[in-house]
Order: sequence, then C-alpha cells, then structure tokens
Amino acid sequence: MRGQGCTVWDATGRPYLDLLAGTWCNVLGYGHPRWVEAIQRQTAKLAHVGAHFPTEEVDEALSKLGEILPPALNRAVFLNTGSEAVELALKMARTATGADGIVVIEKGYYGATTYALSLSEAGRAAPYLPRLGTVHRLPAPTCRRCPAGRSWPCDGFACLDHLRTLANGGKGRIAAVLYEPVMAVGGVIVPPPGYGVRLHELATRCGALLIAEEVTTGLGRTGRWFGFEHDGLVPDILVIGKAIGAGLPVSAVVTTQAVEAECQPILRHVQSHQNDPFSGRIAATVISILQEEHLVQRAAEQGAYLLKGLKELSSKYAWLWDVRGRGLMLGVELEGKRAAEGTATFRRLLDRGFIVDYKPQTATFRLFPPYVISTQEIDRFLAAFEDALRAQ
Ligand SMILES: Cc1ncc(COP(=O)(O)O)c(C=O)c1O
Repeated sequence: MRGQGCTVWDATGRPYLDLLAGTWCNVLGYGHPRWVEAIQRQTAKLAHVGAHFPTEEVDEALSKLGEILPPALNRAVFLNTGSEAVELALKMARTATGADGIVVIEKGYYGATTYALSLSEAGRAAPYLPRLGTVHRLPAPTCRRCPAGRSWPCDGFACLDHLRTLANGGKGRIAAVLYEPVMAVGGVIVPPPGYGVRLHELATRCGALLIAEEVTTGLGRTGRWFGFEHDGLVPDILVIGKAIGAGLPVSAVVTTQAVEAECQPILRHVQSHQNDPFSGRIAATVISILQEEHLVQRAAEQGAYLLKGLKELSSKYAWLWDVRGRGLMLGVELEGKRAAEGTATFRRLLDRGFIVDYKPQTATFRLFPPYVISTQEIDRFLAAFEDALRAQ
C-alpha cells in the first residue's frame, strides 16, 4: 500500500479516498513533505536518548503547545498512545485529589489499556478486566434521544443528575470527570450548549478534576484547536493523541502547575519513549504545519461544507435520521430499523473507492477525513454516497 494526500492505493494499485485519515490520525493527509522531512532529519540526528536528558526538540514542542493552549495549561509530558496518556491523566487525578472515584459518560471510549478500557463502554462487561476504584457512569448527552425522555431545549440537564447528587455529597470521593468534547467512538455525540460548563462546575463541587479527553478532538479536528474551546472552559488536565503525531505514535498529557505540584512528590510514570526527541520534533512540526497552513480554519470550513452536503442528502433520504458533528468530525445516523442496511451502503462505498466507517451498533457513518481534504474530493464523496444510498 501507499498513500498521498487524502488517497491510499491498495496492493493492486487501486485508489481509495480516505475519509477516516487512517484511525483518525493522518490529519495532514498521507506523506506531507514537511512532516516526512522532519522525521527523516530527526531520525538521523537523534530519535531517542532517555527521558532524563532534556532536549531542544521537547522544549520546542512545549513552547509550540504554549502557543495554542490557555496559559494555565503549561505543564506537559509527551508519550506514545492515547490510551497511555489517559492512564497517566487518571493517575494524576487520583494522586492530586487523593480520591479514587472516576466519573465517565456512557458510550465513551478512552483506550485499549486496562484502566482506560475498563472505564469505556467497550470494556464495561469484559470479564478479563479488573475494576479499579469506584466508577460512576452518567448517561450520554444524546439530546435527540434524551435518556430522561426530555426534549431539547432543556435547561435541567437530567443527564447530569447523578453528578449533582455526588456533588451534594461533598468533596473527597471523586478524583476525575472524564469528558470528550465530542464523543467519537460513541457515535459522534455532540453535547448541547452549556453541558461542558455544568460538567466542570459539578466536577469542581465534587473536588474532582475535569479531564478533557481530546485524543480524537484535539489539535483542530473540531475546527478549533481544542474541543473544550467550543464549551468555553479550561480543563484541569488535557489528553492529546492522534493528530499530534499525524500518523506516528505521539500523545501528550497537559496540566496546570498546581496539579503538577500535587503529583510531583508521589507520582512516578516512566517509560522508555517518554519525551523522546523524536516525539518532540513531530509534535512541534505538526503544530507548525497546522498553524502555517491554516489547517484548523480549513477543518472548520471544509467540515461546514461537508456537513451542508450531508444535510442536503438527509433532506432527500428520510432514513438518514440525523447528521451532526463539529469541524471535520461528522456522523450520519440512520433510522434504527434500517441500521443493518448501513453495512451494505458502507460496502458499496468501499467498492467505489471511498473509505468511511460504519458501526451497526450506533447506526452511524463516521467521517473524520484529513484536514487537507479538498472541496472537489468532498463533492466526489457526496456524489458516491448518494449513489450508494440510491442503490439501497
Ligand atoms: C476518544 C479516544 N480516546 C482514546 C483512544 C485511544 O487512543 P490510542 O488508540 O492511540 O491508544 C481513542 C482511539 O480511538 C479515542 O478515540
């Protein structure tokens, strides 16, 4: 296989337009020349040296993060995968607060490692996973199908009732609330306005830290640098993955000086590739490219264009029950009774050379293309999608 821009070619030379950016990672598309050059130069210079040596590459990545983050979030460590970064964020929250409870949202996905998966919907019933500490699960903010049967607009946020009860019980039991600004794996669930701020307020009343889990939403995917910006809040801990490596395994945990100070004497997290100069070079390069090529703005614009096209399709095909998303993180949900037909539509799209994702469990097509996708490529996809829907 090989890739260029938004296209991958299979072993037989057949091209596919990739509207998933790999596993939502290749935000610059395939083979971006500046990314390739930075990798080549850095591997020749110094890929790995051990986390105890400070390097200019990590310093540069820290200062690039400083350019795009609120000033309070000024402590960071670079790791490899999103799952690992979530694990560290959880350890930090438990250390800093001295509490063990974690609040998660149903339908959430936080990673494949033991603790992260045990908190995720996907690992909820897995018999091979240990349960670590107390876990509280809040219903997902799926307003069109409100778990409490309310209709939008709703100012009560019944999906937060359990957290309200926890907050009324005082501080000391909950270490963290894990929040995805847009829930990716759960089916591109966009919380309603005001949700994030209330979540943060209630977390603080519990004495808990708000962890913004931005493995998928971070670094421009939603059309802003970070998903929490849409919600008008600054989290206590931020987890970044996928986009920061643009196809290579880089992740980061960012926090405040105050949280770091609480963790410093107790928490140890050391692994072989922590703060590698290679990771630092990639993170710094990816942020520079996103800045200089205005790709976050582009994700917002191309996302709006794709969303508009999908909404036009949903006005023609009533079984496209909901079209939603932010930036280039979009979902098209089918009517529940036609969920199985989505798989056939997905196959048809693949046969026509378009890579999207469809899960019958959520009845939702997911589209998370590279930020460099062109208007012509979007038009080509929309025409193929309509064709595949018509054949249904
Ligand atoms: C929201 C979210 N969190 C965490 C992860 C895990 O990241 P990784 O696969 O890099 O470990 C994913 C992966 O899809 C994700 O979507």
